[in-house]
Amino acid sequence: MEYRRLGRSGLKLSALSYGSWVTFGTALDDAGARDCLALAYERGVNFFDSAEVYLGGEAERMLGRAIKALGWPRDSFCVSSKVLYGTGDNHDPAETARPTQQGLSRKHIIEACEQALQRFGLDYLDLYLCHRPDPDMSLPEIAFTMDSLIRQGKVLYWGTSEWPASDIEALIAFADRNHLIPPQVEQPQYNLFHRARVEQEYRSIAETHGVGLTTWSPLASGVLAGRYDDGIPPGSRLTAAGFSWLSDFVFAGRQEEMRAAARRLQGIAADLGSSRAQLAIAWCLANPSVSTVILGASSNAQLAHNLAAIEFVEKLTPEIRESISQAMSFKPDRPI
Ligand SMILES: NC(=O)c1ccc[n+]([C@@H]2O[C@H](COP(=O)([O-])OP(=O)(O)OC[C@H]3O[C@@H](n4cnc5c(N)ncnc54)[C@H](OP(=O)(O)O)[C@@H]3O)[C@@H](O)[C@H]2O)c1
Repeated sequence: MEYRRLGRSGLKLSALSYGSWVTFGTALDDAGARDCLALAYERGVNFFDSAEVYLGGEAERMLGRAIKALGWPRDSFCVSSKVLYGTGDNHDPAETARPTQQGLSRKHIIEACEQALQRFGLDYLDLYLCHRPDPDMSLPEIAFTMDSLIRQGKVLYWGTSEWPASDIEALIAFADRNHLIPPQVEQPQYNLFHRARVEQEYRSIAETHGVGLTTWSPLASGVLAGRYDDGIPPGSRLTAAGFSWLSDFVFAGRQEEMRAAARRLQGIAADLGSSRAQLAIAWCLANPSVSTVILGASSNAQLAHNLAAIEFVEKLTPEIRESISQAMSFKPDRPI
């Protein structure tokens, strides 16, 4: 395993990490999740991602139970939680959480942190992120609250997920002016279909401000691995109970276009001796602004296969990266 600094912080995360969204509590029961986590840890993964909203808090509970059963020393791994949507009902948290049980108020951030710690069975969170911006948020309130959680030892690093770069810069500037600990991590989607935010909008926060990027959905939920080449197979995440909205989110009306692009990767992957999944993951890792690529996997076999993607990063020459961009028909809005 390779380890990368989280931006310009001193924290070293494994370049490949493992997340608990969708798969935990659907394809993976407690035993399945524990086996995947054990495999990841054995291969050097030291960062495990979750959020209060994942299956209404159940994903964090499953992670906590597995960590306890596996007996990992607390100083050998990192976990994250994310706050905003609340827990509410398992499958529709944002709809069922009450106003004070969601959002980015001081009240919810502090209560959600306590609740996440209880679900994990841990004393502190390594990373704590504001899951999305909230239209009713106050940047000073968030910055002071996160700073206080860090000073209490309940959180080690804080940051955002999918926030506009301008808001992140405003948070950093406010923290600097007030001698607060600034946000040091942003968690964006990054894959061959979604490049612009990381490569353009976040360039300055990563390069100038040293914010680390923990990126998600390297396979666009499996599309880039060819999972949906021939339609939506039974048992795939797009058929999981409670996730009927996910298909629209993943494809956004571009189903055929995305499948065709994924198929065009096949030849390039074959030339490298990799699968399409490994090629797509290695491509994310080839961006030095990326601190860690958070993998999703619904079985040990998928996870083992995806962890081997790291072997292909050095094979991605500029020429091969260019042919990947062409295969994806990627046209940046402005030069990258
Ligand atoms: N901050 C945020 O807002 C945010 C949002 C989303 C995710 N995340 C984090 O990022 C993590 C990873 O995202 P993700 O789960 O969407 O990752 P992903 O890699 O894009 O998708 C994982 C899915 O792809 C399929 N897959 C994985 N490996 C495969 C392989 N080798 N061959 C064929 N299909 C394969 C599986 O689908 P099947 O289950 O159908 O087999 C798997 O569940 C999440 O667990 C979560 O921790 C964060």
